[in-house]
Amino acid sequence: MKKKLYVAFAGIAAASLVLTSCSSSDDTAATDTATEEAVVEEAAGDAGKACVILPDSQSSDRWENQDRPAIQSALEGAGFTTDIQNAQGDTTQYLTIGDQMLAGGCGVMVLVDLNGSGATVAEKAKAQGIPVIAYDRPFAPADYYVSFDNVKVGQLQGEGLLKCLGDNGVDPATAAVVFLNGSPTDGNAAMFKEGYETTLAAAGVTPVNDQSVPDWDNQQGGVIFEQMFTDLGGKIDGVLAANDGLGGAAIAVLDKNGVKVPVTGQDATVGGLQNVLLGKQCMTVFKNTALEAGDASALAIALLNGETPTVEGTVDVNGTTVPAKYSEPVIIYSENVSDVIAATPGFDVAALCAGDVAAVCTELGIQ
Ligand code: BGC
Repeated sequence: MKKKLYVAFAGIAAASLVLTSCSSSDDTAATDTATEEAVVEEAAGDAGKACVILPDSQSSDRWENQDRPAIQSALEGAGFTTDIQNAQGDTTQYLTIGDQMLAGGCGVMVLVDLNGSGATVAEKAKAQGIPVIAYDRPFAPADYYVSFDNVKVGQLQGEGLLKCLGDNGVDPATAAVVFLNGSPTDGNAAMFKEGYETTLAAAGVTPVNDQSVPDWDNQQGGVIFEQMFTDLGGKIDGVLAANDGLGGAAIAVLDKNGVKVPVTGQDATVGGLQNVLLGKQCMTVFKNTALEAGDASALAIALLNGETPTVEGTVDVNGTTVPAKYSEPVIIYSENVSDVIAATPGFDVAALCAGDVAAVCTELGIQ
């Protein structure tokens, strides 16, 4: 479905806000005019600025290591300024950052939601006529949603787990599989689950334990998984972990107990890829952040230029249709880890192939 959006240009909107706030008193008119000019000037100066809020650093190292540099280089490379900040998992901090950014002036906002804070900041931005791009995680009101096909991400995780169970000679229909889902407040986590639950159910898998991890908190994920492990007397054949961080948390518990079973992941982080190469993690999903950041930056640049970009997809956010642009996720096993490296300019191969991973890298010709 094609949708065309007409979004007010931030500079004009900011200027009209200033004008409507003019005092009617003659005494204050001169001061107001001076303030007005200063604000209009500032608003015009900031019409070229993209304000970006990232959610945290703990749930996945993608936000700081992949998304920040990709968005920054795309926008600054095109001659725009950026203000990119990280809320570090704190919703109060998120709202404060949003208010400060809006007070300082933004031509466009690119927001990764954190427990509903994205929507709150977006409402304020839109009240000022500033267009908003929901980055990676869906929320309304946003003018655009830029992400991956997240149901497909979940399907790939389900497919990967089925393959690895099969490689271990385990029949999926009788396998003891547990789910370690993402944050219940992240719209993506529901889409990932829809994908893997459906794929696994079609192969006869019913999870023996199924829990969500608040805030994608890796540490809490480890605690939840350890409890599952204890409750099941260690009888687990496979773990559907929603991302590399949660997969790593489960692997730490399995390692401690001397158990090795297929565990899934997502994000192709260095830690996740290392676990894949070491045979501790069955697979990960490569969501080429360069594509996602590239799409978001292209939209942001068009909006900063006062254009009205169109995209072909949509996402339904609790009954609100938001125009959406999607990229395709790719499944990664140890055999194609090198595809991630090839597609990622500046990939730190030395960090990946450090310590006990070095021998596997040599064996697979990864350098
Ligand atoms: C993202 C994942 C990420 C997770 C935790 C999700 O919304 O799509 O890539 O691992 O959040 O940060």
